[in-house]
Amino acid sequence: MSEVLLSLGPFQGITDAPFRNVFKRHFGGIDKFYTPFFTGIHKEENAKNLQGEEIDPRCNDVNTLTPQILSTDAEEILRFAKQCKELGYKEINLNMGCPFPRVANKKRGSGLLPYPDKVETMLEGVFEHIGDMKFSVKCRLGYFSPEEIDAIIPIFNRFPLSELIIHPRIGKQLYKGEADVERFKSLIPYINAPLVYNGDIFSVESYERIRGVICGGLRVKPAMTPIEETSPKSVIAGEDPQSPALKGYMLGRGILANPFLAEDIKTLDCFVVPPRNDAKRRIERLHTYVLDLYEDRLHHAGGSPKVLGRMKELWSYLMYSFDEPQDIWRKIKKINALKEYEEAVETVFRSHTLRRIT
Ligand SMILES: Cc1cc2nc3c(=O)[nH]c(=O)nc-3n(C[C@H](O)[C@H](O)[C@H](O)COP(=O)(O)O)c2cc1C
Repeated sequence: MSEVLLSLGPFQGITDAPFRNVFKRHFGGIDKFYTPFFTGIHKEENAKNLQGEEIDPRCNDVNTLTPQILSTDAEEILRFAKQCKELGYKEINLNMGCPFPRVANKKRGSGLLPYPDKVETMLEGVFEHIGDMKFSVKCRLGYFSPEEIDAIIPIFNRFPLSELIIHPRIGKQLYKGEADVERFKSLIPYINAPLVYNGDIFSVESYERIRGVICGGLRVKPAMTPIEETSPKSVIAGEDPQSPALKGYMLGRGILANPFLAEDIKTLDCFVVPPRNDAKRRIERLHTYVLDLYEDRLHHAGGSPKVLGRMKELWSYLMYSFDEPQDIWRKIKKINALKEYEEAVETVFRSHTLRRIT
């Protein structure tokens, strides 16, 4: 297997502990997972929302899972770090990327990016007391403008972030338009932290395309004016995908739509020829994964139809694995009884074929 690090981006309402565990049982290729964000860590010890299976080390692998928090309050972040450390985790991640207005309007998530002074004060508070707990950040290029990150990078560089994941869109865009891979690439020489790219990797082809932009031609010094007090890193990457300039790639909607994506990317990087009869084997694997996840969720929910919400969320991406995705979605989205859901899923697997996502 290739050394390229692949992680699974967190999705509130989808990639919870049952999802992560079922996913790992059925698919390979993902090296690192993140919890969807936690908020409201009000207590010094045993905050209520840190007691469930979402973070319980008996249900999670503390070596490959990083808990995420959405906060701008250093004290709350430190409470979170302390409790995660006690549970055995080695790293926490701060969400500075959430674009949704109800979050961003409160200067949280990507809504914090226009305010470098606030970011600096928060990080000073965090790093003063965080000790040996690793601290990473996931962010966008900005909230109103993709230039906002220029003022944030020198601040990030003052602190020993264990990782910086950048999704190169701005908050205001939500998920519209395309991830600005060129802009991401132009930032690489200015960033000290181990860097992870996230955005629009929907297929092996789009991974290759994006990796080509990021890794190709990095020998050329970027045209952008160096940010004040930040000079380009001495390490200028070549075309080596394992270049020190980039630690890895985070997959998001692409792997929810096609759970084989991380395996396929790693297979491609190793030049392994995929086994024959792949399509038949794949649809069987996908089918058992979907059933297993549903049964697991049902078991956890004591048989309640509330599991349908999360399964439908997943199908809003998974439908793209099949031909006629909109037909599938039309059927699944209106379902509100377990039996109906079970029948609809059987119909999908009986009457639809997998399509190649490019
Ligand atoms: C419904 C939804 C929920 C998400 N929840 C989180 C979250 O809790 N924390 C986070 O950092 N990102 C969250 N994200 C962002 C994804 O992790 C990822 O960064 C984003 O989809 C961009 O990557 P992609 O283009 O590969 O999908 C969420 C995205 C969506 C659409």
